[in-house]
Amino acid sequence: MKKLKIGGFVLAAAIALSSTAVQSQMAPFGSKDDAAYAKALWAALEKDRLVGSDTINTFPYEGTEPHGFVLETFYSKTSVNGHSGEVIVKRNYGPKDVEVETVQANRGKHLGAVTVMFKREAGYDADNKDWFWAKFLPDGSLDKNPKGMMLAGKIAKGKKKGCIACHTGAPGGDMVFTK
Ligand code: HEC
Repeated sequence: MKKLKIGGFVLAAAIALSSTAVQSQMAPFGSKDDAAYAKALWAALEKDRLVGSDTINTFPYEGTEPHGFVLETFYSKTSVNGHSGEVIVKRNYGPKDVEVETVQANRGKHLGAVTVMFKREAGYDADNKDWFWAKFLPDGSLDKNPKGMMLAGKIAKGKKKGCIACHTGAPGGDMVFTK
């Protein structure tokens, strides 16, 4: 009888463990895998000089309301873990109401975040055009949402707010606003 109880306990623990693993696999973004992928993406973009300390620069422009930020957007292609795809990198400068000239004079000081869309392999997220979404801080670490979830992956698939929800409203059918 004693043995059976121990057996039951061990079995229950095993079930609890595996359901946690399933849950983290099912979260649409912010998993360890998403973070690792984002890290590889950042490294690729650094090599392409789209992010980091030695970047190619363009003319920043005033962001559309309600953001009111100054932006810089790049359309390119990059390779992550052997997969090549279209990539869109948006540098977000602040604070609110900052002037374009002020940003140009010192980009590093005014960079608030880097938001990226990377076209992953077909089937990654067929519902949302296979985009991988990420929001980086200027040093390449991932920004987090108020719940502490890292902003990388399918953000936030199935939710009313977030990258996917808002970009679904973009014209042109590929979730991209600026084309
Ligand atoms: C509330 C709406 C909204 C949310 C949420 C949002 N975006 Fe955007 N995004 C926009 C708009 C509007 C633009 C066009 C801005 C511009 O360049 O004038 C844009 C532009 C972009 C671009 C440049 C390509 C394009 O679509 O024009 C990237 C990359 C991007 N967003 C990434 C992200 C990521 C990553 C997230 C989530 C962390 C996110 N966005 C969340 C509205 C949103």
